[in-house]
Amino acid sequence: MQILRTVQELRSWTKSTRAIFGDSAKLGLVPTMGALHAGHLSLVRAAMDECSAVVVSIFVNPTQFGPSEDFDRYPRTFAADCALLEAESAQFEIAVFAPSVDELYPKGAKTFVEVDELSSRLDGHSRPGHFRGVATIVAKLLIVAAADRAYFGQKDAAQVAVIRRLTADLLIPTKIIICPIVREANGLALSSRNAYLTPEQREQALVLSRALRTIKSKFAAGEHSTTALKKAALEVFAEEPVVRLDFVEFVEWETLKPVESITEGNLCALAAYVGSTRLIDNLIF
Ligand code: PAF
Repeated sequence: MQILRTVQELRSWTKSTRAIFGDSAKLGLVPTMGALHAGHLSLVRAAMDECSAVVVSIFVNPTQFGPSEDFDRYPRTFAADCALLEAESAQFEIAVFAPSVDELYPKGAKTFVEVDELSSRLDGHSRPGHFRGVATIVAKLLIVAAADRAYFGQKDAAQVAVIRRLTADLLIPTKIIICPIVREANGLALSSRNAYLTPEQREQALVLSRALRTIKSKFAAGEHSTTALKKAALEVFAEEPVVRLDFVEFVEWETLKPVESITEGNLCALAAYVGSTRLIDNLIF
C-alpha cells in the first residue's frame, strides 16, 4: 500500500493508476481525518465495490476547527489506520494520501471556499467557520485526486449538503456517494470523537439515537408536524439531563432550510454535548 505525502505524488498515482486500468478506470476517493473506525471502513468498502482503485486521505484539517475546539487533541492514529487499510488492500489497490498542513495550505494561502447560506445552518450555526474549512479542504482534495467518485458518511448530513452544493457550483465532476450511518449494536453512531467518552458517557450518549428512534416511530405512526416531533425529542433528552442538547432541527436536506411538516427525504439532525464532547446524529425520513 503506497503512502503518498505530496500533491505531486497523488497526481502521479492518479495518472499511473488510470494508465494501468485504462479507459474503464474508476478511481475512488475516501476523505477522512483518520482515527479510522468501522464507519470509515464501510466507505472504503463501498469504494472498493465500485472502483478500480481507491485513495483514502488522512488529514486533520485545521481550518474546520474553531479556536476553542479539539484540533490539538483530535485522535491521530496513523499507524493503526494504515494497518486497517493494509488489511483491506490485500487484493486491491489502495493508496493513502497523508499530506502535511503546509502541503495543502501553501504559505500565504488566501483562498477559501464559502458555500453561502448552507454554511451557517445546523452545525455551521453552532461552529462558525466550520463549513468554510470543510468546503475548502474537500474542494482541494477533489481537485487534486481527480477521482470519479468520492465517498462520505450520512452521519455528517449537513456536511453532505455543503459538499453536494459545492461540487455542483464549482462544476467538479466527481460523483458524490453517501453511505449509511454505521452504529454500535446499542445504537450509538460511530465517530472518531467517541474515543473521548468515558464508559459512563457512552451510556449517556445513547440518548441521541434514542431520540431519533422516538421521532422515527412517531413519524411512522402518522405524526408529520415538526413542532410535535421536536417536543417528543426534547422529552427524551430530558431523561438524560447531563447531556446538553445543542440543536434538534428538521430541514430540507438539500438546502438545510427548516420545514414545518415532514416530507420524504427531509432530514432530522441533532447535536449534543456529552461532557465536553460534541456528538451528532441524524435520520433521513
Ligand atoms: O468528515 C470528515 O472526516 C471531514 O470533515 C472531511 C470530509 C474529511 C474533511 O476534512
